[in-house]
Amino acid sequence: MAFITKKKIAGKEYYYLQKSIREGNKVKSKMIAYLGKDLKEAKKKAEKIKKEMEAETVDKKNVKNILIKKDIDVEELAGFCKRKGFVYPSGEIYGGLAGFWDFGHLGSELKNNILKEWWDYHVKQRDDVVGIDGSIITNPKVWEASGHVGSFVDVAVVNKKTGEKTKVDKHEVKGLDKDIWEVKGEFNPMFTTQIGPIQEESSLAYLRPETAQLIFTNFRLIQDNARMKLPFGIAQFGKSFRNEISPREFLFRAREFEQMEIEYFIGPFMECPYMGEVKGTNILIYDEKMQKENKEPKLLDLYDAWKKGIIKTDWHAYWIGNEYEWFLSLGVNPNNLRVRQHTPDEKSHYAIDTWDLEYKFPMGWRELQGFANRGDFDLKQHQEHSKSSMEINDNGKKVLSQVVCEPSLGMGRAFMVFMFDSYFYDEKRNNTVLKLNPKLAPVKAAVFPIIKSSEYEEIAQEVLKDLRKEFNVNYDKSGSIGRRYARNDEIGTPYCITIDNKSPKQKDVTIRDRDTTRQIRVKINGIRDILRKLINQEVKFEEAGKLI
Ligand code: GAP
Repeated sequence: MAFITKKKIAGKEYYYLQKSIREGNKVKSKMIAYLGKDLKEAKKKAEKIKKEMEAETVDKKNVKNILIKKDIDVEELAGFCKRKGFVYPSGEIYGGLAGFWDFGHLGSELKNNILKEWWDYHVKQRDDVVGIDGSIITNPKVWEASGHVGSFVDVAVVNKKTGEKTKVDKHEVKGLDKDIWEVKGEFNPMFTTQIGPIQEESSLAYLRPETAQLIFTNFRLIQDNARMKLPFGIAQFGKSFRNEISPREFLFRAREFEQMEIEYFIGPFMECPYMGEVKGTNILIYDEKMQKENKEPKLLDLYDAWKKGIIKTDWHAYWIGNEYEWFLSLGVNPNNLRVRQHTPDEKSHYAIDTWDLEYKFPMGWRELQGFANRGDFDLKQHQEHSKSSMEINDNGKKVLSQVVCEPSLGMGRAFMVFMFDSYFYDEKRNNTVLKLNPKLAPVKAAVFPIIKSSEYEEIAQEVLKDLRKEFNVNYDKSGSIGRRYARNDEIGTPYCITIDNKSPKQKDVTIRDRDTTRQIRVKINGIRDILRKLINQEVKFEEAGKLI
């Protein structure tokens, strides 16, 4: 049984959810969750957690198969992605090319689903954000104004013993052991190219190293045409290129990668009206002070972290919470996420304050998404360099707005995170089960006629034709039914539909749930609606049809 308890620490009251457990002939109480400082909020949270616990108990009672989380390393993930058709080394028949990757028939679907979910959540479902799609190559003056030509600089170093080439930030050079590392000099990671047939200085151009800049150069046009009022954001996803000295760890550090970025603009002294949304969002926080004092990160409510001044602006706290929720809503384990503040010497040339959402990758805690406060750096730079005003009208006053937060996420890193967190194994089934959120799953359903006969295959084709109007669906009539299920479990297909001996007469089919292997019967007529509701988690599996 779970119950709320109150603790007084240094005069303040804190609420916790406790559970009684029997150990031998003793009953002990165990802390399950921290519920915050407000009793009303604590009660709400406790109800939610209790419901989740009940659902879990019911599931455990009925479930035939228990999935076990399997931790794999980066090489194992890359191997799995290659074997199953997610990601290949680019141009592999010629030996590949370091830092470049090709997405296969499943990887391209997963990648597009990640981009779609990101766009829907950040653009389609919000009034205050619009999207654009800028070009990859633009006027090189953009990169002079943005500071990328002058300040986007790494230092190349080579390990004298192993020959390993890597990069360090300028501030790290002093701390290098000179017996081990040879400093090769500064280098700009922007890829250059030539425009037109004649190679001369004036034809030099760059492949963009971040998608952000065309948001700034088009800022006035977008604001005017989309009739946006401060505060508002502009979003964009697309390819970015960086000539990384040492591309490594699969998609984590690539030379060609995709970014999903939002520049969020505010006017002077504009408060964030959405802070209520992050109240109660607990996340591991690792600020500059804790790092300096060698302390452990703390689990804090984002709202409190802002109130206590740990996170300086309300907007920064809000965006961190918003992005954290996006990852959780798509199945990422909160225990694998934390936010860390940049120390002064790691900040980019444009940033006032930066936090990273970090994920516990097999190689350690690493940046998944950046949140920089870029202030008015970019608009000011473009205003000065282009001699075009970047000011806009805000309630009758001309203002140069500030990018109070830039949530910037690499698609490749998100791809790895979703794959790592969904990699499970089922001992009973003896196969991998990729427990991807159905919205992200590359294939939404697989249709199997259980018996090889024209009657069954015709029904299967009818179901397939209907579902393919909306979803990516596999058709599989070869091998044992177990093999067909296993093939789909491994690639994350959430639902398998079988046309069995009852189907011709009853005009219905079975749907099997990937994670529990439970099955329901549903009428063929209306199956597309049911599948849509299941994918969007609008109906519980057990309630979507007749449980078998
Ligand atoms: N506009 C800000 C910006 O580009 P960044 O921290 O350099 O900031 C943002 O990059 C995000 O882009 C990172 O958090 C990461 O997810 C992704 N990213 C950056 N460099 C990458 C690379 N070489 N390979 C894959 N993803 C990368």
